[in-house]
Amino acid sequence: MYLPRHLAIIMDGNGRWARQRGLPRILGHQQGVEVVRGIVEECSKLGISWLTLYAFSFENWGRPEEEVEALMELLATYLRNEVPTMLKHGIRLNVIGDTGRLPGAVATMLDESVERTRSQTGMVLTLALSYGARDEITRAMRKLASAAARGEVEPEDISEQRIAAQLDTVGLPDPDFLIRTSGEMRISNFLLWQLAYTELYFTETLWPDFSPDQLRQALHEYNRRERRFGLTAEQRSKEGNQEEGGRH
Ligand code: FPP
Repeated sequence: MYLPRHLAIIMDGNGRWARQRGLPRILGHQQGVEVVRGIVEECSKLGISWLTLYAFSFENWGRPEEEVEALMELLATYLRNEVPTMLKHGIRLNVIGDTGRLPGAVATMLDESVERTRSQTGMVLTLALSYGARDEITRAMRKLASAAARGEVEPEDISEQRIAAQLDTVGLPDPDFLIRTSGEMRISNFLLWQLAYTELYFTETLWPDFSPDQLRQALHEYNRRERRFGLTAEQRSKEGNQEEGGRH
């Protein structure tokens, strides 16, 4: 089976999962963390090289204070419990987003977790935290404009590669496959630049119900997709279809 080299996931539906059970929303997020554990382990076992999870969006700061606080606590607990598992499985932790807005203790714990896993050579797990794609692109443009104002870059030298190099995702390949749970068919300000040619997959399953089995089902669907990158089918088959994905 061809695996996506880089799988990105919008984990959605924790709140609805809880509501359906008459539970507070935070219990949906708690269950969501359990699913994160299982999916991270499954992706690493399958041999996926990059996994990126949309864990907290820029817009999520607008949620009720107690929900934001609870999500921050869940994140801290997740890091405390999971870094040893990451080390065991060779997983390297990475973070994208405007992390300067995170509470100091969480930001410190994140920095330490990234540092502790820095030399791991297996899957790269990227958590998108306080992340919004328009914000990421805006920050990148500011950096390029400053470089131009200092005379370090000429406007005509600004290329797609130069822009990509200023994004938080520098060093990561673009996602090959994006999964969004809970039936919403939106990108919600996630990786807008990087998703240009990504295959999109939407499932009705709410994130707390998403299982390793359903992940494999989604990956089978990825195998049936024909990725053309704007070329004709004939051109792509000459180049060797799906060369971005590793054969496993
Ligand atoms: C969407 O559900 C999910 C989030 C806003 C946060 C995702 C967070 C987790 C899965 C847990 C924390 C993650 C880590 C890595 C520790 P929603 O609340 O928008 O659901 P709804 O649309 O049904 O209300």
